[in-house]
Amino acid sequence: MLAVVATSGLASSYLRGQLGSLRAGTALSPGFDAASSNETVKGVVTPNIDFFIRNHFRTPSISEEKWNLEISGMVAKPLKLSYSDLLLTSSVRRPLTLECAGNLSGGGGVSTAVWSGLPLEVLLKQAGVQAGATTVVFHGADSGEGEGVPPGIHFARAIPLEKAMDPSTLLAYEMNGAPLPPEHGFPLRALVSGWYGMDSVKWLTHVEVSQEAFKGYFQQERYVAVKSNGERQTITRMRVNSKFLRPLNDEEIRVKAYRIEGVAWAGEGKVSKVELRFDGDGAWQPAVLGESPVAMVWTPWSYAWSIPRPGQYTIEVRATDGEGNSQPLVRDPDRKDDYELNTPHRISVSARS
Ligand code: MTE
Repeated sequence: MLAVVATSGLASSYLRGQLGSLRAGTALSPGFDAASSNETVKGVVTPNIDFFIRNHFRTPSISEEKWNLEISGMVAKPLKLSYSDLLLTSSVRRPLTLECAGNLSGGGGVSTAVWSGLPLEVLLKQAGVQAGATTVVFHGADSGEGEGVPPGIHFARAIPLEKAMDPSTLLAYEMNGAPLPPEHGFPLRALVSGWYGMDSVKWLTHVEVSQEAFKGYFQQERYVAVKSNGERQTITRMRVNSKFLRPLNDEEIRVKAYRIEGVAWAGEGKVSKVELRFDGDGAWQPAVLGESPVAMVWTPWSYAWSIPRPGQYTIEVRATDGEGNSQPLVRDPDRKDDYELNTPHRISVSARS
């Protein structure tokens, strides 16, 4: 049975025109030339070419003509949608920061794009979720060998129904005004806003509504917080975190007044404070937040540093979220896994003038 979602009358060419104008706006980029000293970081959107990529298998090659999205399981009316059905639905467009659960402190496994798509709840409501359902499983088209994954496994992750019905959980087909690039999930990916990246399943083919805890390999064997007593808990929300964008580690600074810049994020919450500490022993100094922080998107920050004297400096940054959670100064010694690493990003720089 083919059920098509009610359209808003937006033809895809119209959508492309709208998105094309956004793309011009995304010349705003956090990229910068480290050598160009005091130029400021201009914005918060990561160009597609610079957006981090984390794939467990090879990128599957999917033809948009043959691809379908199925919504099935505990629903009154299973749906099967083509790519053009999706492009014709009312679209939403929003910036969103994605961080990999295995990102290191200060690492490159975090980026922000402006995504277009539709809230998953629109399709789930149309399909009619049945009473008693608790879980929504996202199935990706990719499978294969590598990273010790047993044969015959495809990438799949589950989230609670409540999060799936939250309007912030999206099915996205555009990234910064362009169709999703193949490596970021063409033709469609989930975006579970404010949660670590593993739940934002790419190359989405099937959304399955269920009342059972999902037992997939990537749910049970990967992305699990493990304590020394053996307790295991699935990874979900992003922890508060921050990083420097400039200067870079080991950079040589040749000016006396330097604008330090970076970004901070707090998963489903908002950043309330960013602080810097110099040489590990001084007090934490407040940085200036660049924009009024919004949930689920990283916030730029800056700090006007008057360099007291030439020499070697160690600088750390830590953020605090709206509920008062700050980045921990040391990793919880009870954790046996390598996820949710959010101790302060620390860099060393030399000042020469
Ligand atoms: N979806 C599929 N189908 N296969 C994958 O390997 N990797 C996940 C997630 N979705 C993955 C996936 C992980 S671990 C992360 S961090 C994000 O995709 C990364 O998204 P990106 O590559 O677009 O940055």
